[in-house]
Amino acid sequence: MKFTGSHILSIGQFERADIDHIFRVADFMAPFAHRKRVTRVLDGAILGSMFFEPSTRTRVSFGSAFNLLGGDVRETIGFESSAIAKGESLYDTARVLSGYSDVIVMRHPQEGSVSEFAEASRVPVINGGDGANEHPSQALLDLYTIKKELRHHGRELDNLRIALIGDLKYGRTVHSLCKLLTLYKNVSVTLISPQELQMPGEIVEQMRVAGHTVVESDLMEGSIGHVDIAYSTRIQEERFATKDEANLYRGRYRLNQAIYTRFCEPNTVIMHPLPRDSREGANELDNDLNDNPNLAIFRQADNGVLVRMALFALILDVEDQVDKYASDVNWYTGSRF
Ligand code: NCD
Repeated sequence: MKFTGSHILSIGQFERADIDHIFRVADFMAPFAHRKRVTRVLDGAILGSMFFEPSTRTRVSFGSAFNLLGGDVRETIGFESSAIAKGESLYDTARVLSGYSDVIVMRHPQEGSVSEFAEASRVPVINGGDGANEHPSQALLDLYTIKKELRHHGRELDNLRIALIGDLKYGRTVHSLCKLLTLYKNVSVTLISPQELQMPGEIVEQMRVAGHTVVESDLMEGSIGHVDIAYSTRIQEERFATKDEANLYRGRYRLNQAIYTRFCEPNTVIMHPLPRDSREGANELDNDLNDNPNLAIFRQADNGVLVRMALFALILDVEDQVDKYASDVNWYTGSRF
């Protein structure tokens, strides 16, 4: 695909070569994301960051990624602080905001809303999550993480074995990730969820059409024995009619060190898009996994910055100029990465 000036709305717009391209640029961003070098390549550029649903990682990592490339970030958080609360349409908001920004990232509770916004926007728009539909940049950083983690175990994205656990009906990250996996070969996907929260049928079908083996189960322990990746998710309580309904499922799947040791292969990598629900009634990934070297959740969150920097660089067509505007850092950077 042509990245320059493009919206990033759905995983469906990518081919495998595009993913390779994004990952190459993401690798190149490592010294900048890891505070070894700084670049001012986007000096003067403005990111319009519009989050109409709660977000920590996605919002802050998109903002940090833009800052790390030298650009500035203007944030709108929540409907109450936007004119949408006064009845303004997405069309009008998009026309106006796109005059104030060079690129926009948007999260919105309604499926399809970000695409509708993008149609009216005069600048590229990135989907930061539209309801239960898609979260393409999360899938890209998830796959980037899977690739990096598996490299240590001599395995690749083709022939991947992955288990997705939890709320597969409303979880937009797993929707986008499954669509992304259709670009690879011979993937075994185990979908572990309560019957009522199964992966949408059309996404299962897309994976089968791609030649993947898809198994659905409502039991976790017996299904995580032979996977490279165990990807846990939160019950998306904000998508349920009532909290009580969501509570029926919270805590259904809890992965802890004892279960990991007993049922998983020793190299199985544990992932989660975060936030993990650490309240007692849920505790989907126990804190006792924190010292497990295969717990990749924080490396996954760190990788979000690299991948988002890559997306900005490609969309704004500066990926070849990053070095030209680079210098060393002046401050103490420690050894966080
Ligand atoms: C996810 C989301 O918002 O879809 N979070 C994120 O962006 N990393 C997952 C979730 O909220 O459970």
